[in-house]
Amino acid sequence: MNAFSAPKGTYDLLPPNSAEFLAVREALAAPLLRAGYGYVETPGFEHAELFARGVGESTDIVSKEMYTLSTRGGTELALRPEGTASVLRAALQGSLHRGALPVKLWYSGSYYRYERPQAGRYRHFSQVGAEALGAEDPALDAELLILADDAYRSLGLRGFRLLLNSLGDRECRPVYRAALQDFLRQLDLDEDTRHRIDINPLRVLDDKRESVREQLAGAPLVGDYLCESCKTYHEQVRELVRAAGVTFEDDPRLVRGLDYYTRTTFEFVHDGLGSQSAIGGGGRYDGLSEMIGGPALPSVGWALGVDRTVLALRKEDVELDLSTTPRVFAVPLGDEARRVLFGVVTALRREGIAADFAYGGKGLKNAMKSANRSGAAVALVLGERDLAEGLVQLKDLATGEQSPVPLDRVATALRGKVG
Ligand code: HAM
Repeated sequence: MNAFSAPKGTYDLLPPNSAEFLAVREALAAPLLRAGYGYVETPGFEHAELFARGVGESTDIVSKEMYTLSTRGGTELALRPEGTASVLRAALQGSLHRGALPVKLWYSGSYYRYERPQAGRYRHFSQVGAEALGAEDPALDAELLILADDAYRSLGLRGFRLLLNSLGDRECRPVYRAALQDFLRQLDLDEDTRHRIDINPLRVLDDKRESVREQLAGAPLVGDYLCESCKTYHEQVRELVRAAGVTFEDDPRLVRGLDYYTRTTFEFVHDGLGSQSAIGGGGRYDGLSEMIGGPALPSVGWALGVDRTVLALRKEDVELDLSTTPRVFAVPLGDEARRVLFGVVTALRREGIAADFAYGGKGLKNAMKSANRSGAAVALVLGERDLAEGLVQLKDLATGEQSPVPLDRVATALRGKVG
C-alpha cells in the first residue's frame, strides 16, 4: 500500500517553516490585542444554513465551495468557509450585543473552501480575523484598516496595496443594482453569466475573463450612485485613514465574493502573488445580523490570509527573526551523567531557558553533531569526571571555547551567554 499523503489542496506545516507561519499569525493578531479586541473561538463547522443566509446562497463560496455534510440525524452542517457569520452567530447567542457596544472580537483558525487549488489558493487555509459589532462609526472602519496595515508592516511587508470602495447601503444599493442589471443585460454573455445578472449582478463585475472584461469597460460605478449619507460616511473613513498615514487606492470596481457587505469594502493585494493576490479583505456588513435572525447590528471586520501573507513575505525575501530553537543543548556521557543532566535541563526550562537534550543514548561524537545541527549556541557536556567534581562543561558552539561551571550555577552562567 502507498503511504498516505495530505488531501489535494492542503499542505502540512512542518518545522522549520512552521515557525514562520506561527510568527505571521501572531504578528497579524498583535495590533488587535493592543486595540481592545477580545479573543473568540467558534466551532469548525456550523449549520449550513448560517452561511447560505449570511454569506449568500448565490455566492461561489456557498453554491460551489462549501464542504457540507449531513449527520445521521439529518442535520445539514458545513465546514466553515469563513469566520464572520460564525462570529456574529456566537456573539448573538452569547448575548454580547446586549452589553457595551461595539463588541470587538478577533479570531484565528482554519477555513475550508472547495476551490480549484493553485499557488496561494488552498482548500484548507488559515485566517486571522477581526469583527467590530454594533456601531456605525467611520472611526471603527478606519481603525480596522489601520490595524491591518500596521500588522502587515510590522512583519516587514511592503509590496502591498490597500484598495478601498463603498458598496452603498440598503437605500442606494438597489438603485445601483438595477442600473447595473440594465447595463449587463445588453452585453454578449454566456448563459451562466446571464443567470448571475439576475441573482448577483455585482459579482459579474469581478469576472476575470478577457472577453467579459472588455465589455465591462463602460459599466456604471457604484460610487456614482451612493446616497448622501453613504458618501459622507465614506469620505470620513478615507480622511481618518489618510490622517493615520495609511495609503490606499480608491477602487470603484472592487466588489467582494460575499453578499453581506454594505458601505466600506476593501482588499489588501500583493503584487508578487499572481492571480491570488488578495492577502486580506473585509468591510462593513450592516445587515448581516438581521439576515441571520438577530437585531439590527451594524458591524465591520476583516480577515487576513495567513498562507498568502507567508507567500508574500517570501516573495519579498523578508526573513523573520525566529528564535525558536533552544539556545542550549545538553550532552551527557554515561548513565549517571544522563540522569543528572536531564534534571539540569528540566530545571533550566522551568527557569525559562529553552534547552534540548541528546536523546537516544548517542556517543559523544554523534551527540555533538546533534548539538551543532540543532542551531543551539551552547552545549552543556557532562562526563563522569566533571560529575564527580560537581561541574559541567559549557561549550560555545560557535567558537569551540569550553569552560567548567558548577552544576548548581548553570542557569546563572547561561544567562550571561544566551540571554
Ligand atoms: P475573504 O476575502 O473571502 O473574506 O477571505 C479573506 C482572506 O483569506 C483572503 O484575502 C485571502 O488572503 C484568504 N483566503 C481566502 N480564500 C483562500 C484560499 N482558498 N486559500 C488561501 N487563502 C485564502 C472573508 O473571509 C471575510 N469573512 C472577511 C471579513 C471579515 N469581512 C468582514 N469581516
